Amino acid sequence: MRTRTHLTPAVAAVTATLLVGLLTACGQEARGGSRYQPDAGKGSTVGIAMPTKSSERWITDGQNMAEQFEAAGYRTDLQYGDNKVENQVAQIENMITKGHRLLVVAPIDGSALTDVLRRAHESGAKVISYDRLVLGTEHVDAYASFDNERVGELQGGYLVEALGLDEESGESGESGETYSVELFAGSPDDNNTRYFWDGAMNVLEPHIEAGHLVVGSGQTRMSQATTLRWDGGTAQKRMDDLISRHYGSTTVDGVLSPYDGISIGVISALRSAGYGTEARPYPVVTGQDAELASIKSILAEGQTQTVFKDTRKLAEQAVLMGDALLNDEEPEFNNTTDYDNGEKVVPAYLLEPVSVDASNVDLLVEEGYYSAEQLS
Ligand code: GAL
Repeated sequence: MRTRTHLTPAVAAVTATLLVGLLTACGQEARGGSRYQPDAGKGSTVGIAMPTKSSERWITDGQNMAEQFEAAGYRTDLQYGDNKVENQVAQIENMITKGHRLLVVAPIDGSALTDVLRRAHESGAKVISYDRLVLGTEHVDAYASFDNERVGELQGGYLVEALGLDEESGESGESGETYSVELFAGSPDDNNTRYFWDGAMNVLEPHIEAGHLVVGSGQTRMSQATTLRWDGGTAQKRMDDLISRHYGSTTVDGVLSPYDGISIGVISALRSAGYGTEARPYPVVTGQDAELASIKSILAEGQTQTVFKDTRKLAEQAVLMGDALLNDEEPEFNNTTDYDNGEKVVPAYLLEPVSVDASNVDLLVEEGYYSAEQLS
């Protein structure tokens, strides 16, 4: 069934005109008017609720989805919550009030949307959880993300390999040396944080237990390492503190960072403490998202690695899922077991992340993710 509106085409067209006027008056980012087809499922509006514009990736995610949904014949209403839970809840409320048929949500706090998504369900809207899983509600139809545990494994695996430890056996490798590392985790209210951490710790723990990796601060629990809202400034302060308290005479050899914004904060703290010189090079620092600032840092021998997640492909996946849901069809899933949100196992489509360092950074240009000029 492709048509979900009870309005006649003429009434729907008038409603659409009013809606456009209303959205313009409210200063909302409603787009795609020219493709409106009042009597088809294609004409409906997709509400896209993104967490923040403070990180480049979410800006690109939002733009990619808006463009791709519009190219598929939908209208879009793209909103950013400025990392404030109450903003995001209000934005979703608004989308429900405006009658949007599909909501694509990257939650700021995964557990804070239970009530508003119940209302979305009552209004008949479908819901896609985007990149981050919405928790504690059965009212989420699909999840589009990357293999999040794999992201952590790539970060932990990179650290181990770059320090010359044997990834498989937990041995200390040829040099037999021990290395000092510090561990950072993402925001405690983001479901992905646990997956990234577990993936990394699967690789790091044998080395920590064998004593070849030493966490200088002793802060080895995720709860000690989290970074509220993934904030780079918060990570910088924690790293400042860790260096001054625990690294008087020793050197930090590696930092597990789950996200580029955190990596940039960590590197600033290291720079202030005298790292980044020939005598005292930066430690191995991981990351995620292949943000431009981090790619430039990798090229300048600051940050060492990042995990590239092609947000264009994620947007494409969300559009395919949304199109299927709006047409009462079953979207394609490739994981129906791993993402239990406390109320249901949310069927997911997971994409593969790719580790990037100075040796394969050209990949981003080859894939058209950045232009050669942007990286020069
Ligand atoms: C996570 C996401 C990461 C990173 C982080 C901070 O949920 O999976 O790729 O973007 O948020 O924005």
